[in-house]
Formats: sequence, C-alpha cells, structure tokens
Amino acid sequence: MPTPKASSDSPKRVIASGNSELDSRLGGGIPAGSLVLIEGSSGAGKSVLSQQILKGSLMGGYRATLFTTENTVKSLVSQMESIDLDIFDFLLLGKLRVFPIELSHLGDLASATLLQAMQQEQQRERDLIIVDSLTSALSHTDDKSPILSFFEASKRLCASGVSVIITLHAQAIASDFMNPLRSVCDAHLVLHTEQDGQRLVKTLEVAKIRGAASVTGSIVGFDVEPGWGMRVIPISKARG
Ligand SMILES: Nc1ncnc2c1ncn2[C@@H]1O[C@H](COP(=O)(O)OP(=O)(O)OP(=O)(O)O)[C@@H](O)[C@H]1O
Ligand SMILES: [Mg+2]
Repeated sequence: MPTPKASSDSPKRVIASGNSELDSRLGGGIPAGSLVLIEGSSGAGKSVLSQQILKGSLMGGYRATLFTTENTVKSLVSQMESIDLDIFDFLLLGKLRVFPIELSHLGDLASATLLQAMQQEQQRERDLIIVDSLTSALSHTDDKSPILSFFEASKRLCASGVSVIITLHAQAIASDFMNPLRSVCDAHLVLHTEQDGQRLVKTLEVAKIRGAASVTGSIVGFDVEPGWGMRVIPISKARG
C-alpha cells in the first residue's frame, strides 16, 4: 500500500490517503505544495475524504493541522476511529494539531482570521493544513471577494511547500463566483451522490490535479463503511 513520502530527498512528495485504490485514482497522490479544493453537498464525503488524506499524511511522516467547524477534538477522534482512522497518538506527539473553529461568529472577518491562524500553523513547520469546512465563512456575507483573497493567500502559503485542503459546499456560492476559486486551486475534487441504476452511490470526480493530467476527469464510486472507511466500488459511469 503506497504511503506519502515526507523526506526531502524523496523524488515525488505527495499527499495521499494510504488507501491504494483511492490513491491510484488520484494519480498516486496529490503533489505536495498543492492547494486542494474538495467540493460536495452535505453527506457527500468531504470530511471522510479529508480525514483519509489526513491519516495517510500522518502515517507518511507529515505534520498536519486541521481546522474543523464540525467537530470538537473528542468527537473528531471518535468519528475517525469509527472508520478505522486512529489519530490519538499523533495528537499526543504533536504531529497533529486540531482546532475547532466557529467561523459564522466572525462575520466578515472569518476568512482573514482563519488565514492568520493558518499562517501561524505554517510557521510551526506543518506539511498539511486542512479546513473542513469553509462554508460557514461564506453564508453570512454577500461580498465574496474576501473569499477569493483567502484562496489566493492560501495559494501563496502553498509556495512554501505546505499543502492546503479546503472543503466547501459549492451550492453555498453562485456558480459564476466558484469558477475563479476553482481555477486558483491546483487540485479540484468533486463529490456527488448520484443514481447508478437502481441505487444511490457516492462518487468522487477528479476535476483537476495539476501535474497529473492522466487522472483528470476520472470518476470513481465509493462507499463509507463502518470500521473500514472509504471503499472504492464499481459503478457503471466510472471513468479513468
Ligand atoms: N463511521 C461511519 N460509518 C458509516 N458511515 C459513515 C461513518 N462516518 C461517516 N459516514 C458516512 O459517510 C458519508 C460522508 O460523510 P461526511 O461527513 O464525510 O460528509 P460531508 O460531505 O463532510 O458532509 P457535511 O457537509 O454535512 O459535513 C455520510 O453518508 C456519512 O453518513
Ligand atoms: Mg463534513
């Protein structure tokens, strides 16, 4: 099972989930230093996917920080444990730092405040920073330009080698505003729940991974199973 490599002499540093089936659909993993956008509606799998990548990165020796609007540290640990992703030791060792945040309370200052916290984390030599999710920073304001600035500043953070993953409910934003955000990102993953014959399935579409053209456009079906996590499943419209 391939794991991400963190050593500086490694030929290709990637962020990967450690789940070989999933990683192969991501071209072996997302190049380190990427700004990654994970889009999807509620229940589509944004948190589970980012948690898989978080655990894979920690197993590969990376240091990570998670900003979560959805969990306390305790509920995150038990949620991840329920899908066989134990993070407790990484928390104890300081390899993982978790910050529960309430962006909606910050109003117009939400994205700027979050960015400041992310910059502080980057100075602590983090390899991976995850924001799950950014949606509540958007819903209370009509002016979306601070969000584009947030993405651009996150991209500048990535230039130092840190990878940044941002999850977002895309339907919270007008589609003409989503496109500039998508184009700033190096990798863009879209999660759907859709009809496949008689059944509803979750899908992961690799809309873009810069540096991995071969996987762009591929669609894979997956399931979330208790005690296991994400499992790739065959679907009729799968590509790639
Ligand atoms: N331990 C588990 N056992 C079984 N299913 C699970 C488990 N944990 C999560 N799931 C399922 O995985 C799916 C994806 O959940 P996830 O929390 O990642 O969605 P999300 O896109 O983050 O949703 P939201 O926008 O509401 O945060 C859901 O259907 C959820 O019920
Ligand atoms: Mg979630």
